[in-house]
Amino acid sequence: GSMLVSGIQPTGAFHLGNYLGATKTWHTIARKLDPSSQMVLFIADLHSLTVPQNYSVLKKQRFEAYASLLACGLDPAKVTIYHQAAVPEHTQLQWALTCFAGMGLLNRMTQWKAKADLKNDAQIQNELGAVKLGLFAYPVLMAADVLLFNATHVPVGQDQAQHLELTRDLVSAFNKQTKTKFFHYPKTLMAPSNKILNLRDPSKKMSKSDPDELTKITITEDPKSMRMKIMKATTDSIDGPLTFDPEQRPGISNLITIYSAIANQTIEETVPQIKDLSKRDLKELVAEAVVKELQEPNRVYKELMSSPDLLHKLSLEGADKARAVASKNLKEVYKILGMDMEK
Ligand code: TYM
Repeated sequence: GSMLVSGIQPTGAFHLGNYLGATKTWHTIARKLDPSSQMVLFIADLHSLTVPQNYSVLKKQRFEAYASLLACGLDPAKVTIYHQAAVPEHTQLQWALTCFAGMGLLNRMTQWKAKADLKNDAQIQNELGAVKLGLFAYPVLMAADVLLFNATHVPVGQDQAQHLELTRDLVSAFNKQTKTKFFHYPKTLMAPSNKILNLRDPSKKMSKSDPDELTKITITEDPKSMRMKIMKATTDSIDGPLTFDPEQRPGISNLITIYSAIANQTIEETVPQIKDLSKRDLKELVAEAVVKELQEPNRVYKELMSSPDLLHKLSLEGADKARAVASKNLKEVYKILGMDMEK
């Protein structure tokens, strides 16, 4: 059977990018899961510590994120869903893996540079001292998340591919150095949707941490505001038929991407349907689709947030289920590394 593993950070409400790039596909996979396979999803709260936080807000967000996952239709009876921080084996395996992770490999990752706001080599040289070790080592924690369950498949959006290549590099370093074949090479299961872009500035991705609310649509906001944000989305001033052209027309292309992902169809299928619409009518169409798609998650989220005890209980049960598998795997890793306590 397959072991599918993925995670999502809790800092900020889930947005349309998370939904179309991750939770919607997780839901589809979970529905079709065969009995010999397992799916593990976690709130990547430890990852959120890589940048400064308001920790009491973060605590609240961890439970909002849990509710959001369930609101996207994921069923804790079928899928193991928990908080990463509640399963200490994640960080234990991370330590072991850091001892196999080359500094050069980590240095090539792009995300720490973006998150530390370092734009060029000179800046990196000058300001490296301020970059936190946790931020730099973040992809090793991500590898530990995946390898803790010896995952066969990792379903993610387009922006996570680089981190999973590093995970596979670590598998090869570990297996080679320990002369074992213990870890599988996990395959990236890329979401069918393109990356969802920032609604105001389509040169960037839609991001939870963007302080400007107009740039993103969250699954928890009311339909009126969803509609308003789509209607205000940045497009272009090119006349004539609408075309899918991410380079020249990123705003229009982003709307086409969103519509296609919701309608479960390819871009090629969507374009002929929309090419003769006005930009305004395209926005109306997309707004309608988004509101309808998020109606159920929106309703379930509100319902769940009024039962904090239930959320808490489900999360603890999820952590127990995860630990049962994680501790067994970690034990085997420790044995391979000579760290077990057997005589
Ligand atoms: P995070 O929390 O940034 O995003 C969660 C998931 O949402 C996808 N995503 C997007 N997809 C399309 N368009 C966007 N604008 C967009 N923004 C986010 C991401 O690809 C992701 O699948 N490091 C991870 C969390 C993580 C993880 C892991 C994932 C921690 N450990 C182990 C897989 C396996 C992250 O920060 O995702």
